[in-house]
Amino acid sequence: MQRQKIVIVGSGLAAYVLASKLWQHADVTIITKNTTKHSNSIRAQGGVAAAISAKDQWQLHLEDTLKAGMYHNHQIAVKTLVKEGKEVVENLLQQGFPADRDQQGNILFGREGAHSQRRIIHAGGDQTGKYLINFYQKFLQGKIAIKEGQLAVDCIVERGECKGITTIDQHDQYHTIIADHTVLATGGFAALYDTTSNDPSTTGDGIALAYRAGANVTDLEFVQFHPTMLAIKTQHNDLISEAVRGEGASLVDQDYRAIMKGIHPLENLAPRDIVARAIMEEITKGNHIFLDIRKIKNFQTKFPFINSVCEMNNIDLHRGMIPVKPGAHFTMGGVETDLLGRTNVSRLYAIGEVACTHVHGANRLASNSLLEAMVFATRLANYLQSQPLLSSTKIQKVQQLQFTSQDPDLDQLRTRMTVNVGINRDETRFKNMLEWLDKFTIIEENCLSVFGLSRKQVQMQHHLLVARLVTKAARQRTESRGAHHRVDYPYQSEQWKNKSITFQLTKQGVSV
Ligand code: SIN
Repeated sequence: MQRQKIVIVGSGLAAYVLASKLWQHADVTIITKNTTKHSNSIRAQGGVAAAISAKDQWQLHLEDTLKAGMYHNHQIAVKTLVKEGKEVVENLLQQGFPADRDQQGNILFGREGAHSQRRIIHAGGDQTGKYLINFYQKFLQGKIAIKEGQLAVDCIVERGECKGITTIDQHDQYHTIIADHTVLATGGFAALYDTTSNDPSTTGDGIALAYRAGANVTDLEFVQFHPTMLAIKTQHNDLISEAVRGEGASLVDQDYRAIMKGIHPLENLAPRDIVARAIMEEITKGNHIFLDIRKIKNFQTKFPFINSVCEMNNIDLHRGMIPVKPGAHFTMGGVETDLLGRTNVSRLYAIGEVACTHVHGANRLASNSLLEAMVFATRLANYLQSQPLLSSTKIQKVQQLQFTSQDPDLDQLRTRMTVNVGINRDETRFKNMLEWLDKFTIIEENCLSVFGLSRKQVQMQHHLLVARLVTKAARQRTESRGAHHRVDYPYQSEQWKNKSITFQLTKQGVSV
């Protein structure tokens, strides 16, 4: 029997989980624009949230997720996440994943913002993502093909069906990969902002690819800013995990004034958007904000990675003060999928952060993203196993035209996104952003390959398109909800309740 060909774009956790469940049935190829050392998953310091402790219940995890998401989440999607998440995590532990445990061998459950229970499973202290990726890479060695340095250009869509992907390598050579099933697992777009916890490669490529292919993209206005990035410009934009506050650190100013007092009943563990805005307000007033870690015992053992980052940046941890500021961290919206990972384009799928399964609503609950990647990759794997092959693998040959464009540089785009579509938003800023974007040619049709762009131009086309879609979505939602905060519409509006802004190439609108 002929084996299915599956191409996965991206090399984070969702991609590996999918590959690990399919390699026996299919020829799986992972393509990545950099190397497999680059992904957000590898950087994840927070862990995996799952209601597996004897004191916990999935119903509590469900309620915490909905509350953090401002009830903009789809309840059925969240129920799937938290119920199946328990099974997925229990299986992972049975397979020998080295979660952190106490001396008696019991799992150490961590706590993070807006969780009512201790339910976060970590590995290597603050290196869960790295441990997960290592675990799957080891398992998959020799079982799948990995192509590094290939930037995805276009999905190949003929008569409404996706037949694979075109890519461009580092020498500007185009390649065609025909596949029975094409899966986008490219991560979010938080690296389109200048302070970000993300790997620089995480710029929303999958959203641009899917949109040009005719897929729905939705909820793009919801961008989560993590309150505590290290406030020192390093090459890596390092995150100081919320787990540090979960263990008792407090946000203070230069005079040790606790800044979250009176702002929210959960104080330092309030939802991220509230903490991020409180810190921004202090910074705008000219204050410097720190995480006061003096109450945390054994900081170095609990947070070995953060400890080493602080040492590398000459932060004297004996003083117990880590300088912090907010940065773009996670994007709740993305390519709209059903609960099997299917988009509205036949044979095109999305999993992980690039997808919008509607589990996160207007604001993601901490440590739900690795869980989402695992749950929905597992579901897609189960679905794909029984799907038919393409009826014809013939595709039309693409003739390339000459194209010139005047593009901005990425740093300019990032700065403008941060100022205009950042933590605090309003109509004037959106207008400025859209006027600036209008200066550049942005190709919306599914034909970048036809234009024969260089790799640098293709990458900029992805960036510009995503920036425009995000700005348009944010402008359209005339209210504040969760991570989307407009100073000109500071409150939630009934009119926007349960409504998502969805864009599709041929039509755009608000869906309920
Ligand atoms: C963190 O460790 O603070 C980030 C975890 C997450 O965003 O899920």
